[in-house]
Amino acid sequence: MGGHVKAQALPPEVVSLDDHRTRALARLDPNAAAYLGSAAGDGHTADANRAAWDGLRLWPRVLQPLAGLHTQVELLGRRLAHPVLLAPLAYQRLFDDDGELASAIAAAAQGAGFALSTLSSVSLETVAAAVCGDAGRGPLWFQLYFQRDRGRTLDLVQRAEAAGYEALVFTVDAPVNGVRDGERRAGFRLPPGVIAANLPAAAGPASLAELLATAPGWADLDWLLGATRLPVLVKGVLHPADARAAVAAGAAGLIVSNHGGRTLDGAPATASALPAIVAAAGGAVPVLVDGGIRRGTDVLKALALGARAVLIGRPLVWGLASAGAMGVAHVIRLLRDELEAAMALCGLASLASLSRDLALSGHAVPQPPWRHQGN
Ligand code: FNR
Ligand code: LAC
Repeated sequence: MGGHVKAQALPPEVVSLDDHRTRALARLDPNAAAYLGSAAGDGHTADANRAAWDGLRLWPRVLQPLAGLHTQVELLGRRLAHPVLLAPLAYQRLFDDDGELASAIAAAAQGAGFALSTLSSVSLETVAAAVCGDAGRGPLWFQLYFQRDRGRTLDLVQRAEAAGYEALVFTVDAPVNGVRDGERRAGFRLPPGVIAANLPAAAGPASLAELLATAPGWADLDWLLGATRLPVLVKGVLHPADARAAVAAGAAGLIVSNHGGRTLDGAPATASALPAIVAAAGGAVPVLVDGGIRRGTDVLKALALGARAVLIGRPLVWGLASAGAMGVAHVIRLLRDELEAAMALCGLASLASLSRDLALSGHAVPQPPWRHQGN
């Protein structure tokens, strides 16, 4: 990684996120492609994420006033230019030499929120220093994986605070890795030079027993909330009882996520889980969602189901592998342009009244079982 992020050109025929995917897959080495492409198990949940957005129908209104159409939303006390954030993704230098530095700079340039993974391959201080001075940037968040040693967890929290991160994203859906055949078949390993730059050199992988013994629980959320002055969003919530518990504990936001189908295969699609989580949150905190968001219409559907904003995971890597920072910026701009077009075509000039004004239908919003169980 040099002192600056390199510029890369993008051919004119790349006009969608899927075009970036095609271009990225042609450029990635098999090791990086195996890590990126891996879904857990048989990929049922990863596929369901996509199918659920596709299965929803927007019921457009016509002849509505559209002058001054904008995509702004309020999130944690800030007004954002648009509701698309970059999800925390580990080891981005697998996909581009500049890694997280390139994607954070692209997010800032596009006014998109950016969440840096604990397992970032560029240090959290380097990323923050590169973007914090940009007045037009979106929020900068740090995603926290609890470390086996709580002192090390606290150290990460304090470094994130000192560096200027504005919120913590506590990921709770991966106490152990999902079963990923693709990674195992490819013998996936981090190549020399790609490291977890925020962490001390690994003392060897943890045993399953160690992971289970040190996995965070609800008491650790309480501990975290007491240990930081930053708002904490809980990422990986699918069940409304967990949503209620997180809100009661003091979480500042919820992220409905199944880790892009990389952890528990068989978990529901996020579009299916979202309505019940929005209901459980009861407007007390914002609910965000990720998993399979690939079009501006997906963003609109997510917001129509009550999400305040969305995060994109794999598409950020497609942009990164396709054309570095330029590719990531292009991915964000495509989604934002598509969202604007979808809003105009649905008769919406702003996102504020969306869940009230825009009807959705489709089998992708099933009744979850607990609706009938009274809990
Ligand atoms: C992830 N995800 C993830 N989540 C997290 O909290 N910390 C992490 O370090 C990572 N790392 C990671 C690496 C890669 C390669 C992928 C694809 C995903 C999950 C991520 O934040 C997000 O929840 C999903 O990627 C969203 O689904 P889509 O947009 O990829 O379908
Ligand atoms: C993954 C972990 C790092 O999904 O969150 O690969």
